[in-house]
Amino acid sequence: MKALVLSGGMGTRLRPLTHSMAKQLVPVANKPVLVHCLENIRDIGVTEVGIVVGDHAEEIATEIGDGSDLGLRITYLRQEAPLGLGHCVVIAREFLGDEDFVMYLGDNVLAEGIAEAADAFATRRPAAQVVVTKVLDPRQYGVAEVGEDQVVRALVEKPRRPRSDLAVIGVYFFTARIHDAVRAVPPSARGELEITDAIQHLVDQGRTVTAVEHSGYWQDTGRTDGLLECNRVLLDRVETAVRGQVDQDSVLDGPVVVEHGATVVRSRLTGPLVVGSGAVVQDSRIGPHTSLGANCTVNGSDVEDSILLRGAVLDGVGPVRASLLGRGSQVTSPPGTRAHQLVVGDDCRAVVA
Ligand code: G1P
Repeated sequence: MKALVLSGGMGTRLRPLTHSMAKQLVPVANKPVLVHCLENIRDIGVTEVGIVVGDHAEEIATEIGDGSDLGLRITYLRQEAPLGLGHCVVIAREFLGDEDFVMYLGDNVLAEGIAEAADAFATRRPAAQVVVTKVLDPRQYGVAEVGEDQVVRALVEKPRRPRSDLAVIGVYFFTARIHDAVRAVPPSARGELEITDAIQHLVDQGRTVTAVEHSGYWQDTGRTDGLLECNRVLLDRVETAVRGQVDQDSVLDGPVVVEHGATVVRSRLTGPLVVGSGAVVQDSRIGPHTSLGANCTVNGSDVEDSILLRGAVLDGVGPVRASLLGRGSQVTSPPGTRAHQLVVGDDCRAVVA
């Protein structure tokens, strides 16, 4: 079995971060979403991975490399325009050959991995298998109507009137039958070749398509609130590991990770949280549910339930909650400051208390 990871897309819902970086590289619990995904693939024993990349191709290749660090062999496949998930299968035809493959959307996080779904596919070996989960508002997803025996009766992409509450999660298992299907369907109203339509085509052809219900945590990290929730859930799984320097005047409570080269001085750290390598925390209250990326500086501040990307600076501000700070961004309050002074780039949001 091979894997096809989709890492194109514009990430419009995660602006402004995605003006300058791929949404799949945004870190949760200090690890890029895409790495969480590749680890899940490795954990089911798949090593040949094709990653479909778009505008952020170079950045993704630089960050992930040839995959050898993760025990994978990665091939990058360039998609010239975001023409849909079905189109990704079309351009990966040669890479995939006639092998079975798992297709994984690079912005989806499945905290407990995909082993259960992989086993179900191997045991039953339908033409295709989707993974579904119950959601409150299915209208923003592909929606599956599933009959007895886990057989899919119908799949509809973002229906206005959903006929079930089962959303299709971004992990699909395919046999080579999908290749004819993606070529048989026309582009949708939004101008994309929808994988959902191709799978429906298999159903219409009388092929068996099954659905397995995902019991663990799943999140599509394409939006800020989803990203922060995912960060909380993944941090809830960390265990204390102090590899950096923590002084005598600091108090650590709950699961706290302090990476190599990080320094914590006169601060209260309430886990779960992670402090990235080279970060400096001084006279501050951090956590719970906070990820500080590498080389961040937090001084005289109070931050909870937030993600600071590499090199971000918080100085003299707080309380900061449910916030996302991009790489090298600075939020400071020098002594004597009497008004908010903002230099806010395109599509940023700032809420001041
Ligand atoms: C895509 C799929 C949709 C699926 C969702 C899961 O939607 O088209 O069927 O439910 O991923 O994250 P998109 O995120 O491209 O709108």
